[in-house]
Amino acid sequence: MAQINPSILSADFARLADEARAVEGADWLHVDVMDNHFVPNLTLGVPVVESLRKATDTPLDCHLMIEDPDRWAPQYVEAGAGSVTFHAEAAAAPVRLARQIRAQGARAAMALRPATPVEPYEDLLPELDMLLVMTVEPGFGGQAFLDVMLPKIRRTRRLIERHGLQMWLQVDGGVSAETIERCAEAGADVFVAGSAVYGADDPAAAVRSLRAQAEE
Ligand code: DX5
Ligand code: ZN
Repeated sequence: MAQINPSILSADFARLADEARAVEGADWLHVDVMDNHFVPNLTLGVPVVESLRKATDTPLDCHLMIEDPDRWAPQYVEAGAGSVTFHAEAAAAPVRLARQIRAQGARAAMALRPATPVEPYEDLLPELDMLLVMTVEPGFGGQAFLDVMLPKIRRTRRLIERHGLQMWLQVDGGVSAETIERCAEAGADVFVAGSAVYGADDPAAAVRSLRAQAEE
């Protein structure tokens, strides 16, 4: 079944609790953590995740666009994240980190920037609960979907099948009513949507309609 994860990057940060509740019914709330080093933008950190955890029952999917995730990721699990995604390009010891996240009781996920191929990570996939194929350059919401990532989504889905893995395949960036069907057809099953959800008049209805489209 398709999962829709609204990204609060496109929400009003002064009203985060209300904005989180506005998408109840979503599978996960996607929380973009940026450190102004790994990406040229700065968002939020551990204390905001702790507060969000108390503000909503929707589980938190924390996407860490930060340097040194080996050091920081465990703190996001402690703060209440149900899933923590670190970037392959930033992790010094991805296997050790994924095992640590799982040992703490959260789902472990790894993200790939658009220019990072999946093939070198084939042997790591069993250590992960989810792989995130970025469909924009990480850093900002509201960017145009990169169609050139569709073959990578397809290749990733084939690797997951070849190894008989249960892991999820997430896409993030430019996912909307116009692009979600192409992502689903290529093999994605978890869809992050920022502007397509929070830019809609009724964010909860946008979640339902994206999910229906992805499941067509
Ligand atoms: C971008 C973030 C995304 C962003 C997506 O670096 O990782 O999660 O919020 O926003 P949209 O859906 O507007 O492209
Ligand atoms: Zn994200």
